[in-house]
Order: sequence, then structure tokens, then C-alpha cells
Amino acid sequence: MDSVLSPLDLTAREAPEGPVAIARPHRVHAAATWFRENFPGDVFYAVKANPSEWVLDALWAAGIRGFDVASDTEAALIARKFPDAQIAFMHPVKSRRAIARAFHDYGVKTFALDSEDELEKILAETNGAKDLTLVVRFAVSGDGAAYPLTRKFGVTAEEAPSLLRKVRQSSEEMLGVSFHVGSQCMRTDAFRNAMDMVNRVIVNAGVVVDIVDVGGGFPAIYPGMTPPPMMDYVNAIKNGFEEMFVAQNAKLWAEPGRALVAEAGSTVTRVELRKGDALYLNDGAFGTLFDATHLNWAFPAKLLRQEPSRAKLAPFRLYGPTCDSMDAAAGPFMLPADIQEGDLIEIGSLGAYGTAMGTRFNGFGETVTIESKDSPWPSMYGEVSSVVAMPKRKRAPKKQR
Ligand SMILES: Cc1ncc(COP(=O)(O)O)c(C=O)c1O
Repeated sequence: MDSVLSPLDLTAREAPEGPVAIARPHRVHAAATWFRENFPGDVFYAVKANPSEWVLDALWAAGIRGFDVASDTEAALIARKFPDAQIAFMHPVKSRRAIARAFHDYGVKTFALDSEDELEKILAETNGAKDLTLVVRFAVSGDGAAYPLTRKFGVTAEEAPSLLRKVRQSSEEMLGVSFHVGSQCMRTDAFRNAMDMVNRVIVNAGVVVDIVDVGGGFPAIYPGMTPPPMMDYVNAIKNGFEEMFVAQNAKLWAEPGRALVAEAGSTVTRVELRKGDALYLNDGAFGTLFDATHLNWAFPAKLLRQEPSRAKLAPFRLYGPTCDSMDAAAGPFMLPADIQEGDLIEIGSLGAYGTAMGTRFNGFGETVTIESKDSPWPSMYGEVSSVVAMPKRKRAPKKQR
């Protein structure tokens, strides 16, 4: 039974050439349950963070019914797997074919946009459908985020009023506003500040907004990055929502990716060579260690040996298996000083943007997935607390269609 085998035993049993992705569906379930019970709105899982079947199954089992997709391929995955899911296509720039497929083939009615040209594309490819939910994505500060997402998407506060009015006139159904405070957001006031800014624009535009979507950015715990409690984020968002001049029955949405899955995955990787404080591994930048290498984040690491090492911990750099010199993680990763060729290392908190980022560059990247029932890494989710009441509403500005 897998439940009694450790990641070391499981890896030894499979003995693969490449790395082993450890899947912990019970951690996805715990995070999803926490969000369902504490976030006072609808949760749309950002599929890009980890589209693995075991993740999707665990989310569904925990009651998550909303999925934020970035492509028609992700829409197809969710629509085929969960015909009753609510799918929101939240990428602000989509190909015409992707819009058409999402709408006609997979029943997607919710689309994000940040320009008039994208609005025209959505209306054209959905044959001017009147029952769309159109969500205007705002550019907001990424100051609080370890990985800001500011440069690429979002309408500015200056341009937003005219776009909001145009969208309001195009859709008979729902108008939403959204933003992304950046991934791994370490400050709760980032959400509040973004909501205040969007609120000022809504009031200025004089439109009725039906949905406030606070996007992703909810954090996980990594070495050197211990965020405030998740409940503080929820409270900041709840307070911000109460202050917004939106429809009386406006809905609150969120699109967490990282926060739902980070704790649920890790990678067991083998040391192929040691050179001083540098360890050459069978996984790296083009495998599951994207954030460790490209963003230079530290991740929790532990040596897996049948006989635990008694050596002191020492800082190590990691190199991946490819010939590319970007395939390097400065860490430092704290591991026993006697680590050697053939040792297995488990690198934790890799459930988000881990296997999802893997490529087959240089012929590497084949990753075996094994399920484990343990919970060895720090968690954002303690006991599930009581349900937060739905925020009270302020009155919306005069309706404009
Ligand atoms: C539109 C959108 N929503 C949600 C997310 C998920 O963000 P996170 O994983 O930081 O929660 C992303 C990530 O890039 C995104 O682009």
C-alpha cells in the first residue's frame, strides 16, 4: 500500500532514470476545503498552476467547481473531465480560434479582456452572444509580489472607464472587473489597494459591476518567504469588497493557483555528481525546478536515505541535467554536508508551477508521478475555521447600459 511507503521507498521501488514527482492529493483537498470554507465568494482554480489529473480530481472532490483556463486546450481538459464545471477563460489575449472553440465546443461564456480589440474579437467569435460574462482586467501594482505580473496585461485607470462602458453596452448579462496583484503576493494590502483603485475607476465610469474578481496571487510558504496568515488576505479582500460601489448582489471571485497546489507536490531528484558545494541533479530549470532556477527562489530540501545522515547541514547550489547554463539554482539549499553521488533529495512545495513547467529540452524531463499520503512541508492551512459571512454591500452608482 502506498500509504505506508515513504517517498524514498516509493522512488526506490520505481527506480526511474529521471526525477519522481510526489503527488499529495490530500494537501490539495485541505487547501481547497480551506478556500471553500473561508473565502466569501466563488473560487476558480487557475489550471495553469498544475493541470495534473490527480490535482483536478482532488479539487473536484473538495467541491471546487470553478476553473480559470488560459487556453482552449485547458478549457477542453476541464469540459471533458467535468461537464458541469464553470469555466472562465481569463487570459486577456486569446486567438480567435481559441475563443470560438471555448464558446462553441466547450460552453465557455466567461471571458477576460483588457482592450476594445479583444472585445470585438470575443463578440465576433461568439456571434454577438448576449449571455456572456465579460471581465475587464485592470493593470495594478505588483509591489507586494515575489513574482510581479505587471508588464504584460491590464487596462490602465485612465483607459478603463471607456472600456468598461463599451463592455457594459455589449453584454446583457454580467460585467466583471479583475486584476492580478502578482504571484506569491506577500502583502495583504496589495489586494486592498487594487480594489480601492478599481473602485475609484468604477465610480468614475458610472457603470454597474456584477463581479469583482481578485485574481490569483495567494501565497505559499517557501524558505525566506513566510506570508501572513491566509485569513488576513481573506479579511483584506472582504473589507475591500464591502467598500466597493458595485451591484447590490455583486459576486466576489478569486482565481488561486499556487495557493491551492504548492504544498501538494514535491520532486525526488538524484545527485549525479558533486563538485564542492555544487550538486548536479537529474532535474532542473527545464523540469520541475522552474521557480528555483528562473526566479532564484529557495525551496525546502531534504536528503532521503534509509540511514539518516548525522552530518551538519551546509548550503548547496544545484545544477540541472541539461547543457544550458541557466539550468542552475543558487538556493542555497540546506543539506547534510556528506551528500554524495547517488543520493536522493526531496525538494518540497513544488506543486505549483513545478511539473506544469517541464519540457523535454536536451532529451530530459521524463517524470514519474507517485502518490504519497504524508505531509512533510510547512502548511498555510491549519484547522479549517468557521465560514465567513458574505460582505454587506454599498449602493451601486446609477445604472448605465
Ligand atoms: C489570470 C490569472 N489568474 C490566476 C493566476 C494564478 O496565479 P497564482 O498562481 O499566483 O495564484 C494567474 C497566474 O499567472 C493568471 O494569469
